[in-house]
Order: sequence, then C-alpha cells, then structure tokens
Amino acid sequence: MTKESQFFSEMPDDLYFGPVFDEEEVEAVSQVIRSLRITQLTSNVVEEFEEAFAGYVGAQEAIAVNSGTASLQTVLAALGIGPGDEVIVPAFTFIGTVGPVMQQQATPVFADIDPKTFCLSVEDVARKITPKTKAIMPVDLFGHPADLDPIQELADSHGLAMIEDACQSHGAKYKDVRLGSLARATCFSFQETKNMTTGEGGMITTDDPELAAACRQIRHQGEESWGVIRRVGYNYRMTALQAAIGKVQLRKLDSFNDIRRQNAAIYTEMLSDLKLQLPEEEPYAWSVFHVYSLLIPTRLTDRRDEIVDALLKKRVPAAVAYPSPLYTSPVFEHLTGPFDCPVTEDISSRVITLPTAQSISEPIAERIGVITYDVLKSYLA
Ligand SMILES: Cc1ncc(COP(=O)(O)O)c(C=O)c1O
Repeated sequence: MTKESQFFSEMPDDLYFGPVFDEEEVEAVSQVIRSLRITQLTSNVVEEFEEAFAGYVGAQEAIAVNSGTASLQTVLAALGIGPGDEVIVPAFTFIGTVGPVMQQQATPVFADIDPKTFCLSVEDVARKITPKTKAIMPVDLFGHPADLDPIQELADSHGLAMIEDACQSHGAKYKDVRLGSLARATCFSFQETKNMTTGEGGMITTDDPELAAACRQIRHQGEESWGVIRRVGYNYRMTALQAAIGKVQLRKLDSFNDIRRQNAAIYTEMLSDLKLQLPEEEPYAWSVFHVYSLLIPTRLTDRRDEIVDALLKKRVPAAVAYPSPLYTSPVFEHLTGPFDCPVTEDISSRVITLPTAQSISEPIAERIGVITYDVLKSYLA
C-alpha cells in the first residue's frame, strides 16, 4: 500500500472525526448501569465528576448540567439577568453563546472581535456598555482564551458580571492559569466534538458559593429543599451515565489537548509559506486549538465556498466557522443596528476551518496539511 492510499483508508467516509473512547469509558458506563442508579438524584457519580472538574480547573465549585447552552442560561438566570437587561456578546461565535441571553429575554449587544484572536475586542466592549448592561460574555474561541484581565477590569469598573464561555476551551490557560476560576462563572460544553465529551453535557465553575447554590437550584426545578421552590428552574441535570464518561475523559483531557496542539502545529508548519493569516497564541495564552482557522485573502472572498468545496472533494474536512456575523441571522431581526463590527464582517467572510480532533492521527493531519496547501496554492497563484 502506498503512503497515500494508507492515508485515504484511514479517512472516515463522511469526513467526521469523532471522540476518542476506549474500554475505560465502556466500563465506567457499565458500572453505572449495573448500579441501577443512573441519575444525579440517585447516584454519586455526577458529584464525583463535579469535584474532579473543579479540582482540574482550580475552582471552588462545579455544577454539572446537560449542555453548554444550559450552563450559560443557568448562570444568567442565577444572576437575575432578564427582560430589559443587556448582555455584551461577541458577534463572531456559535449561537449557543447568545441563545441563552434570548432565553432569559435579555438583549444581546454584539461587540466586535480582535483581528488576531477572534475573541471579544476590549475596546469595542467599552464602547458598547450602557446603563442597561448587566454582564459581559467573552468567548474563548477555537480554544484560545479571550484577553480576560482588561475585560474583567471593565466589568469591575461598571459593576458588571463577567461570564466566560469556555465551551471550546477545556484545559486552556490564561497567563498560566487554567480557565475556570477567572470569571464570575465559567461555562463548558461536553458536546461530542469538544476537547472532552460526555455526549451532550455542560459544566459551570465558580468561586462564588452563593452563585453556585443558585445554579444548583435552577438546574433542578428551582427547588431549595423538598417542596420548597425558590425560583423558576429547569430540568438541566446531567445523568450519571454522562458523568461516568466525563470522569474518564477528564483524565485524558491533557493528552487530547496535546494531540490538538500537535495537529495545529502540523498545519502551521505545512501552510506557513503561503503567507496567510494562521492562528497564533498571544503571549498570555495557551490555546487548546479546538479548531484550526485560516484566513484567505480579501480578493478570494467570493470564492471561499468554491475553495471549501475543492478541499472537501479532495477529502479534506474543511468547514466555515462562522460564515457570517451572528446578528445577520433572522432571529435577531428585531435588533436595530448599526452593529458596527467591521472585524467580524471581514473575518467571517474569509475564514476557513480545519479540524484538530483527538481522533485525527499525525499521518492524517499531515495529509490534510499537504492537500490544503496544494488547493490553497492553486487559488493563490
Ligand atoms: C462557543 C460555544 N458556546 C456555547 C456552546 C453550546 O454548547 P452545547 O452545544 O453543549 O449546548 C457551544 C457548543 O457547541 C460553543 O461552541
């Protein structure tokens, strides 16, 4: 078998690179099933996962929920954010960041992003604070931490909460500190493409015991104690089956992140002489490269879809995250602009993403790098 056909035989037919499991996850789930205690209400496994996760990120409290979206909504609800309140969010992110603001019937205010990290622009956040602002939600996009210190300073000087969306950044570090204890609350997702997974799932971490207690109530029907309902709540509980997977995945997270960083390094090495903007870590950041992003030149903007199609035809799992500023989606029609996010407009028209998943082996990453190089070079010529 030639080297090339070996690569192709390893490439899944649908170009989907899923999670990495082994017998440990199977055994952990089996144990929960055999115990006949499969929910947070009857099993200790969810609490064990919370303790392990809090320990890993260095936070005092961790509250497991059933999605990243639920984690963000729970925090917003626990902080009493609702109708009439504004929450500043980046215009370049997944809808899961902003949906929770709408679910709380608060108003998302879109701010622009930094042209290098694609994370919230501190300057634009400062411009968009109004008397109605209650919170700022930086997103650690594609595994790279947002510049949290200046955002926290802004939040402090205006009496606002900084709620961090680290749904794509488990294990990433800001100034050598793991994300999870730096904001008022930090939210994680364990959906199946994430750096660690429980299938679906989420986690809130915080050093604020009162906020943690409110989040625990909201996760479980708003109940303070049996028969005493303190507030409007939801059923956002994680199952013990998910938590059992999470405990095992957490132990593997550092090695998964090493693979993602290694795959990103392979892409950078192979693409660097094309002189495109490739992802770099800021001096304050240790990224976990949830995906790898590259920017094509402005003159090729109209041909972006064609380039992605050419990559897909050659069996490179390229994608576009995210294809347009979030405020252009119909659900935000009622918000009147101008949104004034020129960097988001530019980046979203030029970005192409490559997967870095822990299931991508070094030879496959090399293969992706080689073909991507050839395809991009033909368009750049
Ligand atoms: C940045 C960001 N925020 C929020 C979410 C929502 O997480 P979930 O899909 O677990 O609800 C995701 C995940 O997909 C995400 O990437």
